[in-house]
Parts: sequence; C-alpha cells; structure tokens
Amino acid sequence: MVLKLIKRKLKLNYRKKKWPGLIEAYRKYLPVSSKTPIVSLQEGNTPLILSEKLSEIIGNNTKVFLKYDGLNPTGSFKDRGMTMAISKAKEEGCEAVICASTGNTSAAAAAYAAKGGLKSFVLIPDGFVAQGKLAQALMYGAEVISIKDNFDKALEIVRELSEQFPITLVNSVNPYRIEGQKTAAFEIVDDLKFSPDWLCIPMGNAGNITAYWKGFKEYSQKNKKLILPKMMGFQSSGSAPLVENIIVKNPDTIATAIRIGNPVNREKAKLVKKESKGDFQSVTDTEIISAYKILASEGVFCEPASAASVAGLIKNKNRIKKESTIVCVLTGNGLKDPDCAIKNNDAIFTKNVEPDIKNISEKLGF
Ligand code: F0G
Repeated sequence: MVLKLIKRKLKLNYRKKKWPGLIEAYRKYLPVSSKTPIVSLQEGNTPLILSEKLSEIIGNNTKVFLKYDGLNPTGSFKDRGMTMAISKAKEEGCEAVICASTGNTSAAAAAYAAKGGLKSFVLIPDGFVAQGKLAQALMYGAEVISIKDNFDKALEIVRELSEQFPITLVNSVNPYRIEGQKTAAFEIVDDLKFSPDWLCIPMGNAGNITAYWKGFKEYSQKNKKLILPKMMGFQSSGSAPLVENIIVKNPDTIATAIRIGNPVNREKAKLVKKESKGDFQSVTDTEIISAYKILASEGVFCEPASAASVAGLIKNKNRIKKESTIVCVLTGNGLKDPDCAIKNNDAIFTKNVEPDIKNISEKLGF
C-alpha cells in the first residue's frame, strides 16, 4: 500500500516536472538577461538512448548511446541554436531573419521566427532539400527562394544581404546559434554523469561540432573531474572538405543536409579536432545507408546525414578501447526525408492486393 502510494507520487512528479525549454534550463550558461524575450518551443531535453545493437556490433563491453536530437520541435538540433538566435534578434529589435539552408536550418528559422512574430527569408539549393524540410519552411511561413546553385553559394549571398540590409543572419556564423547548440553537450553530461570517451557527429558547416566542444569545455570548468571526449567528425566522401582540407566545388551525397563544400566554421573545427585529440573521417553513401538501416532496425529513424555519425563509429570499431562509452549524435528526424527512406529499405511491401482474407493470409505466409 505504502509502496503503491510512493510509486503514484513519483509518477505525478514526472508529470509535474515540465521542461521549460533549453534557455530556461541552462540560463546561467547562456548570454541572456531578464530583458531577453525568450522565444521557445520547449526545445532540448532530447533522449539519450542506449543502443544494444550498436553496443554489440562494437563489442568489447562498449556502450553506445544515441543523442536523438531529431525529437526537437522541428525535428532537428537546429532548434537549440534557433531559440537563442531568434530570442537575441528580437531583443536587438530586429524584425526579419535570413538564412541559407540545406533544409533543417530553414525549418527551424521559419518556426522560431513565426513564434517570435518575425519575418523569415530562406535561400535553398534548388532540388537538394528533402521534402519534409521544405514543407516545414513553407508551412511556418518563410519566404523561400531556391537558387540554381548549391548551399555554399546560397550562404555567400545571404551573408552579403545581411550586411547590406537590416536583416539578421541566423546561420551558424551567428554566435548565438553555437551558444544554444552547446546545451546538447550539457544534457549528455547531465544524463551520463560523465562525458563520453568519443562523441561521433556528422559535419556540414561544422557549427554543431564547435558547439558541442564549447559545451563540454564549459561544463568541465564547473566539474574539474570531467574528462573531455575525443571529437570524431564525419562527412560523406563526396562532400568532405574538412577531411581532405580542401574546398569541394561540387559536393555530392545522398545526405543532402551535409552537402556542403566550403564550411564556414572550418578553422573552429580544426581547433576542436586538435584540442580534443579527435579525428575527421569520411564515410561513403553506402556506409551511411547501412547505418541508417541498422538504426531503424532498432526503432530509431534518423535522416541520412545523422547516420553518418554511426557509419563513422562502425568504421572505427577496431580503434575503440575496452569498456568505452560512445555517444553518436542523431541530428535530424528520419521523417524529414521520406523519399530516401522509401528508396532505401529492405521491407516487404506488396502493392495493389485484392482485399481478400485468404489471399492476404497466404501472402503473409500463414
Ligand atoms: N545533420 C543535419 C541533419 C543537418 O541538417 C546538418 C546541417 C548537419 C548535420 C551538420 O551540422 O552544419 O553544424 O556541421 N544542416 C544545415 C542546414 C547546413 O542548413 O540545415 P553543421
């Protein structure tokens, strides 16, 4: 009876503890004041899921966790940066924001701008933005322009526009984006009570790897015992400017989110690699799709770019020390890119079947 009551009370407490959004949760680590109008959709607090399957694949008593940031309000980690960028833009009296995007930034910018009552403009590479992301930007009310060129060109244009006109740039060159995104590292340490040995993460413009590293470093100032992770950044082999240390003129990959040839945070990323004694490597599209399927086979659906972190981990299996703890960042939700999922799965899908019990039960093998 007493036990029952305690259990019931605990359950009630779970419901009572409403997550306030990441700015409120980590206010003391963020450049906000009582004057900042907080624009939030209660982003953050995403699950850190133990992957039994990946832990088994890596072996050696390694624990592999998935930071499933695809469960943010617009389905990607960009919400973490955007709650900060839009709140600060509003505080500064700005009325409109602009970004270039492979899709997720535009979805998040449009949603948070809508929530904050700001206008949003978006430039995207024509034909290379996944359907779900485009649908979001349009629905949240952004003004969208697709250009006959790639993301790098779009970013060049919006940077110039934001210098010429009274409009705030919300790509990851905006420092508030990095501030918001660093909270994912805080959440990982809060959940594990230590930091992982490796953090595996996909890289495009390299804003997120920069943000995570900043987060881990800031938490280590609070907790001197915290041993910082090796930052393992992964790119697709058709689009690997940071791995090859070049500018890729025509980046090409199935992971359209990271189809970027000239990352703006290149120098910061190099520093992260050096300071963390990490590594940058490329994975092929085939390896990305294989990881994408392994994740889904365990009930976790992410977008192809996110699976690059897992593809990279698998590639490094033999380098991982016994009893390591590894976190792979799953940056975006699988629903963002339904076309990729429909084209790349091993499911049995029989179409146009007569609605007849006997016929269907035979097809199902009963
Ligand atoms: N994963 C996903 C799902 C992304 O959308 C992006 C970037 C990245 C990884 C790479 O993050 O640029 O910080 O290294 N997407 C940007 C966009 C470029 O426009 O949505 P990064």
